[in-house]
Amino acid sequence: MLFPDYRPRRLRQTDAFRRMIRETQLGVDDLILPLFAKEGKDIKEPIPSMPGQFRFSVNKIVDEAKKAYESGIPAIMVFGLPDKKDPLGTRAYAKDGIVQKAVKEIKNKLPELALITDVCLCQYTDHGHCGVVEGHIIDNDATLDLLARTALSHVKAGADMVAPSDMMDGRVAEIRGILDDNNFSNIPIMSYAAKYCSAYYGPFREAADSAPQFGDRRTYQMDPANSREAIREAAMDAEEGADIIMVKPALPYLDIICRIRDEIDLPVAAYNVSGEYAMIKAAEKMGWVDGKKVMMETLTAIKRAGAEMILTYFALEAAEIINN
Ligand code: PBG
Ligand code: ZN
Repeated sequence: MLFPDYRPRRLRQTDAFRRMIRETQLGVDDLILPLFAKEGKDIKEPIPSMPGQFRFSVNKIVDEAKKAYESGIPAIMVFGLPDKKDPLGTRAYAKDGIVQKAVKEIKNKLPELALITDVCLCQYTDHGHCGVVEGHIIDNDATLDLLARTALSHVKAGADMVAPSDMMDGRVAEIRGILDDNNFSNIPIMSYAAKYCSAYYGPFREAADSAPQFGDRRTYQMDPANSREAIREAAMDAEEGADIIMVKPALPYLDIICRIRDEIDLPVAAYNVSGEYAMIKAAEKMGWVDGKKVMMETLTAIKRAGAEMILTYFALEAAEIINN
């Protein structure tokens, strides 16, 4: 197909033509909104590094979840900010923990909205790591039972799906096991399978007060330089019983999303993380980019790369544009 016989511009001339040949449609069905729940009442506290995002008390988080539901967004992802931390992160798997209370309340008010919970210990441990600390080592196998108990307690509170984000080896099998043993074999697991050790989580760690107090997460989260390893991680989680594979972050890892889409036959989610959100918001505020356009281009690119689901703090803003 060579010029002048083939002229790609022919089909770019009108909006109708462009719509007809468009390969990727971003829809509200693709979006998942992450929300932060904290202890207290009537709290809607802005997160400085994530303009437009808040920490909500249980009674207020319902209003935000309702906005998502009414926009047609199928699911939210709940993160908890406990008021007490300890070495074993016990508030992560407490019956009256913050996620458990938020989930109960949201499920009660919005039964059709899918509730996914982030399963990890880092917001709940005083050292800020995602697992049990022995000396300065993160003890993989000692962590598995705590993660499984956390997942089970979320499901008992009413979570429709659990999403382990800790990156301990073997956690998916452990969680699948405890759910199955407790008659929750129908609850799916969305595994943060290819989760990279990324500086893009900065604003989230500020929002959730979950930065590690010593060292960093590179002994458990993936090296950003690796691609084949992501396939091994995803294959392993699929084997252990994951129902959805997540890649995180999203925009700097579109190649990983694309490879996993091609090589692993499970639905793929991508997490458009806090730093990706903050960069667009900051540049928009400076007047350097058109924030809404960059947002839509970014989300479309993540979908084009192969993600069926996009976890994004932009979910409500994007839904507003899609719906109008
Ligand atoms: C906790 C967790 C993190 C994120 C999701 N779950 C932070 C981390 O691993 O340090 C990051 C989300 C974001 O940056 O938006 N394990
Ligand atoms: Zn963690």
